[in-house]
Parts: sequence; structure tokens; C-alpha cells
Amino acid sequence: MRVMLTKTAIAVLAGGAMFLGIASAHSESTGNKEADFRIAEMKKLGGNMGAIAKVVKGEANYTEALIDNAKEISAIAANMAKLFPEGSGVEASRAKPEIWDAQYAADFQEDIDALQAASTQLVVAVESGDVAMIGAALKETGGTCGGCHKQFRKPKE
Ligand code: HEC
Repeated sequence: MRVMLTKTAIAVLAGGAMFLGIASAHSESTGNKEADFRIAEMKKLGGNMGAIAKVVKGEANYTEALIDNAKEISAIAANMAKLFPEGSGVEASRAKPEIWDAQYAADFQEDIDALQAASTQLVVAVESGDVAMIGAALKETGGTCGGCHKQFRKPKE
């Protein structure tokens, strides 16, 4: 069940992975437990997306273990609002203060909703085992990560 992707599609996916910061390392503590927990959960999202991307890029064969990766993304998405408690936007965190500004609450919630919808589809796609379908769902999901990061994540220092 392998599909050959064009070089362009692979480049787009690889670029997307970098854009999401999948490869980024962030080891030191922010000094805020809730921010540290959020960052740890975000890293899990990155790791799970990366595992699925390997299969889409043809670097690994499809296995049913990917279903757990997709389900973890979806489970974290379902709880995402709780990862942003008031007061966790500390200096060392890359969460922008706008997250807790009522003016942007609807935008932020929309980004969470978008990830929830896309990751639900990602689970369906991964369960199908169809690599082309997984690739499309992965791209869609990655787009929702990037959408939120663009507006609500501080640039790396
Ligand atoms: C609703 C907004 C939102 C969505 C959706 C979102 N993120 Fe994030 N992400 C953030 C914010 C804000 C930060 C900065 C957190 C901090 O430093 O406190 C972050 C940080 C990260 C980090 C960096 C962690 C580190 O090492 O500092 C990674 C990796 C990451 N996100 C991956 C993802 C992936 C992959 C997805 C999609 C599957 C995703 N995120 C979806 C808002 C979001």
C-alpha cells in the first residue's frame, strides 16, 4: 500500500515539518509548570506528526502502530484549551499574550476547532491504511498547527 509521491509533494511536506518546528529542541524549563506541560504536549504532537510523515514520505512502511500516533494527536487536540490556563503565558514560554486577550478568543478557539476536525480525519485516514489519504490528512492537520503558530506563537529567539 505504498504510493509514490512527487518530489514536490515531498518537499512541501518536509518544509511543512520544519515550519511546525517538529525538529525543534526545547529542553530548559520555563519556570512555569503549566507552560512546561503545554510544551511537552506540543512536542508529542510534533513527534506523532513526524512518525506519520515518515510513512507518507516513503521513509518507513505503513504499520497499524500509526493509529496510536494519530489518536494521540486527536486526544491532545481534544484537550488543547486546557493546555492554556490563565497565567501560563510566562516570559520564557513562546505562547503570545494574545491567547488570553478576549479580543482574540474566538480566533484562538477556531484554531483549536480546526485542529480537532483535521485530527479526527487523520485518525480515519490512518485507520484506512491508504497512504495517499494519510498524506492529504496529514497536510490538512499540519496546516492547522501552522495556522495557530503563525498567530499565537512567539518567534524563536
Ligand atoms: C491553538 C493553537 C495551537 C495549535 C492548534 C497547535 N499549537 Fe503547537 N504551539 C502553540 C503555542 C502557543 C506554542 C508555544 C508554547 C509555549 O512555548 O508555551 C506551541 C509550541 C509548539 C512546539 C514547540 C515546543 C517546544 O519545544 O518549545 C511544537 C513542536 C508544536 N507546537 C507542535 C504542534 C503541532 C505538530 C501541532 C499540530 C498537530 C500544533 N503544535 C498545534 C499553539 C498551537
